[in-house]
Amino acid sequence: MLDALGNLKRTNYCGDLRSSDADKNVILMGWVHRRRDLGQLIFIDLRDRAGLAQIVFNNELHPEAHKKAEELRSEFVVAVEGKVIRRQKSNPEIASGEVEVVATRLHILNNSKTPPFQIEDEVTASEETRLRHRYLDLRRPRPHRNIELRHRILFEMRKTLDSLGFFEIETPMLTRSTPEGARDYLVPSRVHHGQFYALPQSPQIFKQILMISGMDRYFQIVRCFRDEDLRADRQPEFTQLDLEMSFPRQQDIFEVIERVMIRALEVVGVKVQGPFRHLDYKEALRRYGSDKPDLRFGMELQDVTQHFEPARATIHFDGKVQAAVAPGAAGWSRKQLDELGEVAKAAGARGVYAVKVTAEGISSPLEKTLGADGLKNLAEAVGAKAGDLIVAVAAKEQIAHTDTSLNVAGQVRLYLGDKLNLIDRAKWEFAWITGFALFEWSESDKRWVSAQHPFTGIFEEDLDKLETAPWECRSKGYDLVLNGVELGSGSIRIHRQDVQARMFQALGLSEETARQRFGFFLDALTYGTPPHGGIALGLDRVVMLLAGEKSIREVIAFPKTTAAQDLMAESPSAVGTDQLNDLGIAIKQAEAGMAAKKDA
Ligand code: AMO
Repeated sequence: MLDALGNLKRTNYCGDLRSSDADKNVILMGWVHRRRDLGQLIFIDLRDRAGLAQIVFNNELHPEAHKKAEELRSEFVVAVEGKVIRRQKSNPEIASGEVEVVATRLHILNNSKTPPFQIEDEVTASEETRLRHRYLDLRRPRPHRNIELRHRILFEMRKTLDSLGFFEIETPMLTRSTPEGARDYLVPSRVHHGQFYALPQSPQIFKQILMISGMDRYFQIVRCFRDEDLRADRQPEFTQLDLEMSFPRQQDIFEVIERVMIRALEVVGVKVQGPFRHLDYKEALRRYGSDKPDLRFGMELQDVTQHFEPARATIHFDGKVQAAVAPGAAGWSRKQLDELGEVAKAAGARGVYAVKVTAEGISSPLEKTLGADGLKNLAEAVGAKAGDLIVAVAAKEQIAHTDTSLNVAGQVRLYLGDKLNLIDRAKWEFAWITGFALFEWSESDKRWVSAQHPFTGIFEEDLDKLETAPWECRSKGYDLVLNGVELGSGSIRIHRQDVQARMFQALGLSEETARQRFGFFLDALTYGTPPHGGIALGLDRVVMLLAGEKSIREVIAFPKTTAAQDLMAESPSAVGTDQLNDLGIAIKQAEAGMAAKKDA
């Protein structure tokens, strides 16, 4: 028999009880986390959002409550009336560990099936089992902490932006496709057969139109949808802190975001100071081999091509050779070096060359090709000391006429930094990356594509190169990077209609296609568009970093798997023919069959 909640009112959260609550009569509500039956005494750990409290059922004092407690099992939902007392021996493991509650009455509000895994942070269940039963998984303390933290950070961001004069304005979820480089999620229209809405990849055009509308300062905590390959830091639907300002200098946007991030870090008790450092894109690439450098450690890359020239014929590299000096790694074993080689190869290295520098001398398989003097010169040039390992990499291929050795070396640098514990986990290293090119060459499409998106501003001095030398055009875009993660990206926009139209052309859109896809926007631009600019931060990534998590799935209440499925709600799913008929949609049989096969 279950009891009703009736008029019972909770007085405290379990996890909040402290010794100052001693002698109080309390009513607690929550889940049975654990039960220990010692005969005359039954102990339960009662769990709620705030944590655990120990409850004691004493047969001598309150036989009726004790009798009822015998029925309790894991995850039963109960209300307990009782009195807080100091424990004889406190339990430092839990926040309420100095006290316990002597139960006078027990109300069993609901029972529970035995859960498929223990509600503990150290879960052994697979991620699949956890996601299938996400409601149980979310009962664990860690997801609770993460979801609460997410709330606090978002709340703080809203307050900060409100104080800076930004309005939160909602933009449509059912819209038309705005290209941000990924595929769209489409929503068929019932009223207009054969026509589709697209879920927004970002509110880019709408926020620019809000500037044309004179809203001056806009922000939105907004869901974005992108059908792209998923990774630990990518979900098909994710949340942005999106903002846009009228009449801004780049510096004004940076200052707003710095305020927002400084406050967000305060939520986790971290103090950082603005202004954040600025790094030119090319310099970031040259020194760290990445446009999102992890600046928590040094180990900067060095171009050692010149030292490898004598070996060009023997070891066949056609680009450059980059080196990193791994401090104290001269003693690495064969196995460790092999693993390093694997990592470099997976990153696209043609060759990985290790040079051990010890007090006894310099040794390397390269000695045959470079000679003892060559090795010595190399060690001197890169400043390697006794005990260091020089790791040099040459890239396998040149992509679109760019040497990729830096990108490869950048990944090797991260691997070494991690393996050698060089990354100071207490550091919060922000950087603004600027100086991007406006276009990049797409090898698959054989044309120039936007490095960011087609609305990114161009340096006025480069305007006349838009048609003649697009690769030389400099962008007014910027990225915000934190600890090696790209948090956000934005730009000062194109606000002149003629320039926007030329940009579409430079991207290979005919005037007709541009009109068809962006006509409304091109029209809007003709009615007095103010200079404007903005940025969007990936909020899942912000919370992931502040929560110390490695995947954004850990900070999203209902994430999707890397195969873009919701295992709990079982989406995506097939729909009935009635629904399809309403929408005027027929599923191609061959492809439906293929999809079914993939699922199996
Ligand atoms: P961008 O496409 O760079 O810019 O996105 C901005 C930030 O959003 C985050 N992000 C993602 N997070 C999780 N899962 C994903 N699939 C995903 N894709 C992007 C990243 C990224 O830095 N409209 C422009 C912004 C602007 O120009 O103002 C835009 O969306 O942290």
